[in-house]
Amino acid sequence: MDSQEINVVLHENRTFPPSKAFQDKAHISGMDAYNALYKKSIEDPDTFWAEAASELHWFKPWDKVFDDSEKPFFKWFTGGKTNLCYNCVDRHLDGPNRNKAALIWEGEPGDSRVLTYFDLHREICKFANGLKSLGVQKGDRIAIYLPMIPELAMALLACARIGAVHSVIFAGFSADSIKDRVLDMDAKFVITGDGSWRRGKALNLKALVDEAVEGVDCVEKVVVVKREQSDAFTCSMKEGRDVWYHKLVKDQSQNCPAEELDSEDMLFLLYTSGTTGKPKGIIHTQGGYMVYTYLTAKYIFDLKPEDVYFCTADIGWVTGHSYLVYGPLANAATCIMYEGAPNHPDNGRFWDIVEKYGVTIFYTAPTAIRAFMKWGDKWPQGRDLSSLRLLGTVGESINPEAWMWYHKTIGAEKCPIVDTWWQTETGGAMLSPLPGVTATKPGSATLPFFGIDAAVVNEDGKETEAGLLTIRKPWPAIMRGIYGDPERYKSTYWCKWDGEYYFPGDGAKVDDDGYFWILGRVDDVVNVSGHRIGTAELESVYVEHPSTAESAVIGIKHEIKGQCLASFVTLKDGIEESEDLKKELNELVAKKIGKFAVPEKIIFTSDLPKTRSGKIMRRLLRDIAEGRALGNVTTLADPSVVESLKCQYSED
Ligand code: PRX
Repeated sequence: MDSQEINVVLHENRTFPPSKAFQDKAHISGMDAYNALYKKSIEDPDTFWAEAASELHWFKPWDKVFDDSEKPFFKWFTGGKTNLCYNCVDRHLDGPNRNKAALIWEGEPGDSRVLTYFDLHREICKFANGLKSLGVQKGDRIAIYLPMIPELAMALLACARIGAVHSVIFAGFSADSIKDRVLDMDAKFVITGDGSWRRGKALNLKALVDEAVEGVDCVEKVVVVKREQSDAFTCSMKEGRDVWYHKLVKDQSQNCPAEELDSEDMLFLLYTSGTTGKPKGIIHTQGGYMVYTYLTAKYIFDLKPEDVYFCTADIGWVTGHSYLVYGPLANAATCIMYEGAPNHPDNGRFWDIVEKYGVTIFYTAPTAIRAFMKWGDKWPQGRDLSSLRLLGTVGESINPEAWMWYHKTIGAEKCPIVDTWWQTETGGAMLSPLPGVTATKPGSATLPFFGIDAAVVNEDGKETEAGLLTIRKPWPAIMRGIYGDPERYKSTYWCKWDGEYYFPGDGAKVDDDGYFWILGRVDDVVNVSGHRIGTAELESVYVEHPSTAESAVIGIKHEIKGQCLASFVTLKDGIEESEDLKKELNELVAKKIGKFAVPEKIIFTSDLPKTRSGKIMRRLLRDIAEGRALGNVTTLADPSVVESLKCQYSED
């Protein structure tokens, strides 16, 4: 965000208190209740979290709520035995939720499936037994590369049930990316599907997995889910390695006891981008993640038995893990899961879903909201959205204009909006309004959740109005490390403030009411449509190309995506710039990472602006790209580079 934008946001002084009607029914009702509980959660976290955990099932209670003896490798509910799948499904079978819809799935072509908690239990047990029959054991890593079909949610839960560690790879990643992750996690098993529908087109997924695991020794079996009611996908099966899911589960028992797992047993790895070329496998464990996602889902979405909850995120990202699968199911919610694009067959698809199923809670991302705005009001206005009572947003800061549109056009000015700030690493939402409590301000993630000691500090760790966001106390869902790289965990997240405070990598401001305003990443991570992409990842792709000498990738403002990528590339001596070369470079990025990481722009340049010590000045590149006046360039080794780049960029 530039300073002008920060000013716009910080002079945003409209406030929207919850209505009395909402407040009266909310789980947490009013500021006094929030303040009292927040105070307790900070002053006596052990009691607070023990009470929260007691709402869930433990085969054996924990000995200790919190253990920081190996700081910053924190542990929660040590000695406790539990199972997240049990808490998401089995726990609901003995009461009124047994036959309640757990998952309502809608395919892009319009096919649908409803799975009650009882159905889900049966399917997960069969899946888990099938996995066991293939030799899957507790602790094995399983890579999951599936589209948004019910078996994806089931796959997560089946792994959690038997203590296998799942690692979902978003189905937009390329074969090379799948391979990197499979190798990093040393996956013995891969679960994939034959294909899926996206904007009316058949996507064949299996071929990518075949390419990814060819010659990869660690992978023993590949389970392939056939998308129901479709023969549209091409899919070849390798004998001895590939197994059809429907055949695997057909004769399995529908009972599979949930493994009594240690609270600190690994639950999943989820790869995310950082400041180096190598993505990091973020580790989450059973107990702490379970308690935190359960409680945040309950209070932030104010979940009630009659709610129909629609989170539009793909399960390939953390939002889908925490708030499509685990958090809501732990609360016995009814969740909508949708396979396809929001604009197929037309721009009103999400609103059709809201109308058809009577969605009460809708959780999406600012980039989607901006796209809805652009498509025009006629799409939501043509549908009955009166069932909605609460809206949410996640992934990046929401600009006040989009917030107001969401509030008026979707929420009919009656639905509170919860703007939830969090990360793959935090496991669950950290800053967010509570819908029966917080007077919201457009663009602010407002206040910390219970137990979250958030602050904006300077480099010395002193509180300041604008600076770096930090969390000064561990919370149950804090990442447990980076898979295979404990040092990177320490040096990335505990590198500041004598290792006492967690460093998320975001800049923030705090206003007079103590509300937080997120100002974006302070590292070289770009948030494109709410997805993190490390600029170093792209840079390392470019240098693999024989024509490229050097590159610098930056994030620049984008009307819909929030940010998009722009790549500055210098070519080796004697290589001619050409449109064909740009195409080749884009294809290389698509092959190495995935199509979603292809930059909006490539600018060839004879040189990059560098300091005398050789460091590329990305700030200057951003200024050039966004047309801002340039500050001091005298520290550059060759100030003339900037001038020629400016001319080139404006021509491009
Ligand atoms: O920069 C913040 C931004 O997204 C980053 C985390 O990305 P990821 O791990 O992919 O998780 C996204 C979904 C939780 C953060 O460091 N971010 C996320 N939510 C918000 C946000 N920025 C501003 N406001 C938010 N509500």
